[in-house]
Formats: sequence, structure tokens, C-alpha cells
Amino acid sequence: MITCVTVEHLRREITAHKSAGKRIGFVPTMGALHEGHLSLARTLTEHCEVRVCSIFVNPTQFNDPRDYQAYIINLEADKKALEREGVDILFAPTVEEMYPRGFQSTVSLSEITKPWEGASRPGHFAGVATVVTVLFNAVQPDVAIFGEKDFQQLRLIEQMVSDLKMGIKIVRGKLVRDNDGLALSSRNARLSPQGRKDSLAISRGLAAACEACEGGERNARVLEDVVATSVRAVHGAEIDYIAAVREDTLEQIDRVEGRCRILVVVKIDGVRLLDNMALKQV
Ligand code: PAJ
Repeated sequence: MITCVTVEHLRREITAHKSAGKRIGFVPTMGALHEGHLSLARTLTEHCEVRVCSIFVNPTQFNDPRDYQAYIINLEADKKALEREGVDILFAPTVEEMYPRGFQSTVSLSEITKPWEGASRPGHFAGVATVVTVLFNAVQPDVAIFGEKDFQQLRLIEQMVSDLKMGIKIVRGKLVRDNDGLALSSRNARLSPQGRKDSLAISRGLAAACEACEGGERNARVLEDVVATSVRAVHGAEIDYIAAVREDTLEQIDRVEGRCRILVVVKIDGVRLLDNMALKQV
């Protein structure tokens, strides 16, 4: 695996592969890699010949500076993990390389970023859209993959690529869970042993809601309540939102029709945990 820290070096590598007619695939990350990230890199193999990953902890998408400070990654361990997966190129730029002095551009989207994470974390999605645009311009991928774990982020990227005619194919990566159901996240490491056990209330609640939907329940409030009841049983859990939404617009629904999902954010043990599940109608 070749590691590039500058855009110039990365471009040289990419250009050589492109001139040889190879398709470039890309997985952007903020490091602290776990099986969720690695599964995206693996899925990429089906779509391209050259696999590129980036590790960049993007300061502009942290609306809370303490969250940025607390975001600890181990670049050496991450590099080894990517190497084991057979990734060809790692792009690991510095903050100065990504945002040199005088940087003044922002990419922002409207409707899709208003609710949920957008409402709870002002400025977050403009930070994501801008950094992903810069990364796309640096890597110039044919295909990029984003996880369904951050469903609103995935929809934002799909919308942005379509609106701005970026010509990049966006592939959706399945949400990877631990054996007991907890959605994998770098933040899980911050949970206490009790918090780790309590966090299962989220995936259990979501699974129960999905089961109820498959059993014929179409009332969105009832399904949201199934999740809320499971989460409220945890002492000190703070619900940010539990919402049944349309997959395309992310608008909250009253009844389940077409492709829908329940999005959840709950703070347990002081850790903000995101999860979601597709509502299947049999
Ligand atoms: P990060 O949180 O590191 O996630 C990188 C990618 O991994 C995202 O596409 C995310 O959805 C995916 N991912 C995380 N946990 C996952 C899981 N359990 N299962 C499947 N996929 C999972 O998301 C970001 O970084 C940043 O916002 C980024 C897009 C890199 C821009 O800075």
C-alpha cells in the first residue's frame, strides 16, 4: 500500500492508474477503523481495480470542539488494517494540506440537511459536504462507497453527486453490527461496561419495530414508540430523535408506504449513538 500525504503525490499515483485504464474506487474515513469501515473497502473490490481509502479527521464537521479533541485515532494500526485488506493507496493528508491558509469555499445542501443530524449538529453537514468534495476532487474516483450506518450522510452524498453532476457512482455499504446487535462505531469504545450493555436497547428496539412492521403495523407513531419504549428502559438514556422517515427525502411519515427507515440517535452513558433500520413490508 502506498501512503500519500499530499494531493500532488496522490494525483501522480491516480493519474498513472487512470492512464492504464483502471477504475478507481474510494472509501473516505476518519480513521479509528473497525469492521464497518473495512467491509466498505472489501465491497469496493467488486466495483474497481484500484482501491483508495482516506483517513482524515475533518475538523470542520465537528460542531462540538470537545468531540474533535476526543476523536483519537491510531494511524499505524489503521494502516496495518488497510494493508491486510489489500487497499492500494491510502490518502492521509494533514489539516494544512486539506485547508491551506486562505481556504474559503463551502458546499452546502438545503432540504436533505435540515432535519435530524442537521438540526442537532449545526454546520456538521456543510463540513461533510465540503470535505467530501475536496476528497473527491483529490482522488477523482469512478466509484465511492458510503455506509448506511450514517444514513442521512449517505443521502446527502447521493444528492450532492447528482446535483453537481460529479459523475461518481455512489454505492451503499451495509451497516455492520457486533454479534449482539450494536452498530459498530468508533464511539462505542467510549462506553463503560454498563453503557455497552445498555446500548443494546437501541438495536433491540429497532428490531422489534421492524418485526412489528413486518407483522402488519403501518402506523409510524406506533413503530417509533416501540423503539422509544425499549430505550426509555435504560436509566439516564437521552433520546435525541427516533423518527420513521421516507428513505429518499428523509421526511417523517405517518404511515409506512414504500421505502422507509427508522432513524435513531440516543445518548447513553454520555455517548451519542446513531442507528437505523429499514422497515420491510411483507
Ligand atoms: P467515519 O465515521 O470514519 O465513517 C466512514 C465511513 O464508514 C462512512 O461511510 C460510514 O457510514 C461508514 N461506517 C461507519 N460505521 C459503519 C458500520 N458500522 N457499518 C457500515 N459502515 C459504517 O463518515 C465519516 O467518517 C465522515 O463523515 C467522512 C465521510 C469520512 C467525511 O469526513
